[in-house]
Amino acid sequence: MVGFDSPSNLYKKGRKLNYRVLHSHNFKEKHLLIIDDTHKVIFDDFRNVELDEKADLIFADPPFGINFKGNLETYHRMPDALSYVEVPREEYPKFIRDLAEWCYRNLKPNGSMWLVSGWNNLRHVLNAVEDAGFKQLNHVIWKYQFGVFTRRKFVTSHYHLLLLVKDEEDYKFNKPEHYSEDVWIIKRPYHHGEQTAGNELPDKLVEKCIETSSNPGDLVVDPVLGSGTTLKVCLQTGRRCIGIEINPGLEERIKKKLGLNLFRSGNIIGLCG
Ligand SMILES: C[S@@+](CC[C@H](N)C(=O)[O-])C[C@H]1O[C@@H](n2cnc3c(N)ncnc32)[C@H](O)[C@@H]1O
Repeated sequence: MVGFDSPSNLYKKGRKLNYRVLHSHNFKEKHLLIIDDTHKVIFDDFRNVELDEKADLIFADPPFGINFKGNLETYHRMPDALSYVEVPREEYPKFIRDLAEWCYRNLKPNGSMWLVSGWNNLRHVLNAVEDAGFKQLNHVIWKYQFGVFTRRKFVTSHYHLLLLVKDEEDYKFNKPEHYSEDVWIIKRPYHHGEQTAGNELPDKLVEKCIETSSNPGDLVVDPVLGSGTTLKVCLQTGRRCIGIEINPGLEERIKKKLGLNLFRSGNIIGLCG
């Protein structure tokens, strides 16, 4: 990946990351992707993992519970996009509650969370975060340039990004510009001819969230990692990172996105089964 510094150069004094895997019945083949001491992916259901060190920032872009798999055919995505694990619509309220509670539990008292949501299940998301104890600081709209064509309703071309904190008197906020508004216009990435996971976020979007709500050296956690966008941004901006992804089939996509082959000769990469 051109333009990457090595993670160890970006954060030389990184503390090791510790976590516990609570259960191990979901997948026969469980594994970790270890990039270095401070950047790891755990392939598991986030509900099976607890962190020993609480996060400074959680970034979560969960499935939207709208039967996304069905949409993949419409989008003409490559077959490996099917590796995206969706949550059935009827299970969504429980899923999003589990996620909100997990995030609250695994966040520092002065930590922040960015939570991405579509509009369809937003009511469940808002109830879940309020009930978990989060305070809503901002409700950012991400406007993207392309939505799926609709005949009898407006084309959806935005997502919601909730900025949540535990303590409204104590949280990090590195204001991006003097007059920072809550509508962000950022283009979606196109990966021509490249096999991608479903619904990858633009690096720029994730970078804006991470740089606003954390500092270099902080621990950022993404419990629904997908293709590894959060991990990539953390490597580029000197944050430590743990990603959790239920689908081990995404390992190849994550490695490609991080450009891991470039680091292979150094002291940085290790894969263990
Ligand atoms: C919307 S995608 C994340 C996309 C990501 N932000 C990116 O840029 O690539 C949501 C991810 O959550 C994963 N997922 C679904 N249920 C999960 C669970 N219980 N634990 C961990 N990951 C889960 C899905 O497999 C999917 O990869």
